[in-house]
Amino acid sequence: MKTQENGGKSTPIIIFDTTLRDGEQSPGATMTMKEKIAVASMLDGMGVDVIEAGFAAASSGDAECIKAVSREIKWARVCSLARAIKEDIEAAARSLEHARKPRIHTFVSTSDIHIEHQLRKSRQQVLEIIDETVRYAKSFCDDIEWSAMDATRSDVDFLTEAVGTAVRAGATTINIPDTVGYAVPQEYQTLIAVLVEKFPSVCFSVHCHDDLGMGVANSLAGIVAGARQVECTINGIGERAGNAAMEEIVMAIKTRADFYHCHTNIDARKIYPASRFVASTVGFPIQKNKAIVGANAFVHESGIHQDGMLKNRNTYEIMLPESVGIEKSQLVLGKHSGRAALKNKIAEWNIEMSEEDFGRCFDAFKTLCDQKKTATEEDLLKILGGYNQGNMVSIASLVSFDTHQKGPAQYDARVTISINGTTHSVSASGDGPLDAIFQAISSATECHAVLNSFEAHSVAEGPDAQAEAVIILNDNGVFHSGHARDTDTIMASARAYVGAVNKILAQRKEIKNVA
Ligand code: KIV
Ligand code: ZN
Repeated sequence: MKTQENGGKSTPIIIFDTTLRDGEQSPGATMTMKEKIAVASMLDGMGVDVIEAGFAAASSGDAECIKAVSREIKWARVCSLARAIKEDIEAAARSLEHARKPRIHTFVSTSDIHIEHQLRKSRQQVLEIIDETVRYAKSFCDDIEWSAMDATRSDVDFLTEAVGTAVRAGATTINIPDTVGYAVPQEYQTLIAVLVEKFPSVCFSVHCHDDLGMGVANSLAGIVAGARQVECTINGIGERAGNAAMEEIVMAIKTRADFYHCHTNIDARKIYPASRFVASTVGFPIQKNKAIVGANAFVHESGIHQDGMLKNRNTYEIMLPESVGIEKSQLVLGKHSGRAALKNKIAEWNIEMSEEDFGRCFDAFKTLCDQKKTATEEDLLKILGGYNQGNMVSIASLVSFDTHQKGPAQYDARVTISINGTTHSVSASGDGPLDAIFQAISSATECHAVLNSFEAHSVAEGPDAQAEAVIILNDNGVFHSGHARDTDTIMASARAYVGAVNKILAQRKEIKNVA
């Protein structure tokens, strides 16, 4: 590691984001101009140093997007990719005219496989192309990045010669891509170290694809060897298996600052919102167990882990969910959960229970978990409802409902609901069937909170199709969520509403107790 050179100080690492260029090369990830501007502004706001906004010569639409991003972006450098062709370089320069800090990124392959079979040139001709095109790019812009495509399968002596040619022609950043994700960390580290030693004043960049699942590991190995720029994408989207994921690189550097001794400008708290934003923009769901941003990244299920977390979160968490913009860790209740987690959940709902009743609840909960993958809050409330001894909060559960249309925008609903084991039937009107049902539930439970948000979407297709509804209620400025799944969307929504109401009732009891 180069810390000695830096007097033991933390070394700044430049984050070059290529979500809008290499990321968009993921099959199916095309973005509209409006979406690209929104993603670029978000990247700028989170502290990305260089935004590769597109490949100007690829299409007039891409060139227009780079122009629009160049006008919009205030802090980051904006970059366009260009092949080693004069027309590409001109198109890149034109598209960057309005950028406050423009960069032209030009590349040519250096591996014999590419030189012989794709370019059909000699090594000497490739060196001449590098010299000519980098000089040409330099005539438009001071900041030139040059990439040796397929660098990791290139002959090292020839790669060194190519890098020397690009540097002499005026390139200020030299990128060593692992274009086909072929490298392994130790080998890539050695390659970067050799180049850094030969060209100590050049800024080397790493750009690693994930074909063997080593994109991030290779990028970090490159940093250890002295690379000062990392090329990456949000959620690791990109050509084939994708690029190194920005969130993983940033958090590895931050969490293991003791090892890497470097830092980035990224505001890590913006990572999770950025990840969700890109996922929904390109329509690629994030795998649940994805590092840093997956739905399970800060969720603990096993009893041993939950017990540790309740005692001290450092036992099973190496970073805080809040540090990447996730609200909090979760202890989910499932078949691997233990008594500590269930007790914790019951205490959260402010439900008092004798040890004996708790033991019976725990057994019922375990039986349910053997039948279902995860027990929902709603399931748990039903179990707890069976042990209600009058000293607990009111627990409501929906039995059935019926709606009918009265006028053009007028609906009546009749809801049957069980509250602490007693069944009530209540009617109400609303301007839609759901509104009428929600009004009826509010009136039955005497919980008149304001509906803050409501979302329902499908969670599977075909015969297993289910709707998942998420409701957030605002109870005098305090927000409570409820969620439920059902094959019927209205039933899922009604049950989600009841779930949120139960949380409000629990909280009201807590306040009464304190008073
Ligand atoms: O993977 C690659 O080699 C590239 C270059 C164009 C930098 O994306
Ligand atoms: Zn690439």
